[in-house]
Amino acid sequence: MMKLNLPEMLQKQMNTERAERDKNLQPVYKELIGSAGYTAPDENIVEDAVIALAMGKNVLLKGPTGSGKTKLAELLSYLFGQPLHQVNASVDLDAEALLGHKTLSYREGRQEIDFIAGPVTKAAELGHFLYIDEINIAKPETLPILNGMLDYRRTIANPFTGEVVKAKPGFNVIAAINEGYIGTVPLNEALKNRFVVIEVPYIQGDTLKSMLSSQSQQGDEDVLSKFVQLSADLVSQAKAGHLSEEAASIRALLDAADLSVYMPPRRAVQRAIADKLEDQREKALVSNVAGTLF
Ligand SMILES: Nc1ncnc2c1ncn2[C@@H]1O[C@H](COP(=O)(O)OP(=O)(O)O)[C@@H](O)[C@H]1O
Ligand SMILES: [Mg+2]
Repeated sequence: MMKLNLPEMLQKQMNTERAERDKNLQPVYKELIGSAGYTAPDENIVEDAVIALAMGKNVLLKGPTGSGKTKLAELLSYLFGQPLHQVNASVDLDAEALLGHKTLSYREGRQEIDFIAGPVTKAAELGHFLYIDEINIAKPETLPILNGMLDYRRTIANPFTGEVVKAKPGFNVIAAINEGYIGTVPLNEALKNRFVVIEVPYIQGDTLKSMLSSQSQQGDEDVLSKFVQLSADLVSQAKAGHLSEEAASIRALLDAADLSVYMPPRRAVQRAIADKLEDQREKALVSNVAGTLF
């Protein structure tokens, strides 16, 4: 586990709050606490995200697909001992998916209307962390619902119950946005304004090597070194615009390294990386790059 270099006051505050929280946390919520699987390209990434959260600010993780944004959010949850309630944004994300919905239930033979809290309402009422993945994919009209919850007010009017939900201390939002090298779906300014942005690049070189050594089923160090080189080549091709972003994803690289335990590395690269691409030239490029290494 990495050693964080945090200001002493902040570290003390975090430890006290975590111990306090841990005493009262129900088992169902303990299960929502993430694990420490993120390997940082430099310490500032984790430290700055921790400082921002400890000071009650929302954090926006910005980086290409498969760069470890979700892993980092889980690490932050782990470091704070805070359960992470998740929203996976999609084009049909709506107020109900965020806030919750009404449902009919029967109590002592009588019909009643219950409100089933959604992730935002839950995280707010419990004072936990909320993680919104791929926030830029959501329809522009959905996210403004969250504005009040994201700024100093930390409140939201729930249109389904007529109640005003006020977040308990400890509530914070971590969001992720996929931002490639070439173009991106921009995030609404008013929303972006409410976050501290942390860039999450692909890990490379020795950092990537140590991540692969700990996470991949492939145990051969020489083979892993070649996968590190392959990643460097794919990232530079993606940066140059010759390959789409997903070809450089560390997630896909890890899959390829795993498959290479039981099949020749070139075929593993084809299955895990090349064949996912639409463009024939891009497929050929990936195969050629792999061919120079394996
Ligand atoms: N920096 C990293 N540290 C640890 N694992 C990583 C890292 N980058 C990528 N991975 C691996 O790649 C996979 C994808 O990471 P994930 O956090 O889901 O990426 P993202 O959310 O940015 O798309 C993870 O399951 C993990 O195994
Ligand atoms: Mg993710």
